[in-house]
Amino acid sequence: MPELKQINFTRGVPAVESFPIDDVIDAAKSVLNEHGRTMLQYGPSFGFLPLREWVARWKGVKTEQVLMGNGSLQLLDFLCWHMLKPGDVVYTEAPSYDRSITLFRRHGADVVGIPLDSDGPNIEALEQELARRSPVLFYLIPDFQNPSGATCSGEKRRRLAEMSEKHGFLMVEDAPYRPLRYRGKEEPTILELAPKKTLHMSSFSKLIGPGPRVGFMIGDPELLKNVARIAEDTYICPSYLAHGIAYEWCRRGLLDPQIERLKALYAPRLDACLAALERHMPEAQATRPDGGFFLSVTLPEGVLTTAVRAAASRRRLNLADGTAFFPSEGGERFLRLPYCALTPGEIEEGVRRLAATVEEVASA
Ligand SMILES: Cc1ncc(COP(=O)(O)O)c(C=O)c1O
Repeated sequence: MPELKQINFTRGVPAVESFPIDDVIDAAKSVLNEHGRTMLQYGPSFGFLPLREWVARWKGVKTEQVLMGNGSLQLLDFLCWHMLKPGDVVYTEAPSYDRSITLFRRHGADVVGIPLDSDGPNIEALEQELARRSPVLFYLIPDFQNPSGATCSGEKRRRLAEMSEKHGFLMVEDAPYRPLRYRGKEEPTILELAPKKTLHMSSFSKLIGPGPRVGFMIGDPELLKNVARIAEDTYICPSYLAHGIAYEWCRRGLLDPQIERLKALYAPRLDACLAALERHMPEAQATRPDGGFFLSVTLPEGVLTTAVRAAASRRRLNLADGTAFFPSEGGERFLRLPYCALTPGEIEEGVRRLAATVEEVASA
């Protein structure tokens, strides 16, 4: 019997076939000819100036509001070095991106999860928590959230803006999936609604690829100067080589067509995942995102992700640990399904195996 192919519903990585390799090669050659001396030298810790200027125009902000780094996650680490001391309170959505939760913990933060509804953080729970203690930071992923796939409504974004003003906390808006909207209407960013109370972060990892490690933060220039100082003390400057290539690639007008290509590649994968869930697990409580990399499923009462993960591996289906996405309790029945790096055929087969596994565990 031929061996069953392994299907990985584990990591939220881009599809390798999405990488614009030839365009990156062309951009690299040409930009090294023009800016080679700058790109192979140390430079200011804010990053390669032409790229900062390009990102500022793209996002409609001033250049001094843009800090470029080696990926966005490390910039979050630098922000934590600047803002957090052990015992400080950080709110995240529950669930949230597991690596960010780990990072806040590493800085000694007391990480408090605010339950996430399908349209953003639960406002009553947030008000109750704020009545007890305000956070230093509230880390949010408002667009096509990792891991749930939820998008925060416009109304909740406005409430969050008001609440941050009233209670004096900084919102960190992590938005790497925002450009990947396959349908529906875009909401304003939290940065647009509360510019003084928001640090927006995003990245080229989901647009060009994670390999170049090009990410950025947008916000108050004075705050960014402090973050950049920590960046300088850590790595002197980010990779000007990667920044130069990303800059040239953007300058050539390749970002918009690449986003369209990504949407054309990923939207059918989301649809395949939703259709497979409908077909094989019609009772499943699944989110129905309009973009991004993820959807999530809440398993039936009494069926735990740990048991499903163990049984799924016997069917050569890899699933992620749901509890890692929850800062405190919860997540025992939570399952994240990253669909972008799988073909529609693999998605169909993966969901079929998942449904069979859930049935096996439920009837055990
Ligand atoms: C919400 C979120 N933030 C940050 C990152 C990491 O981004 P970068 O590659 O820019 O460090 C990811 C990657 O999966 C992510 O999902």
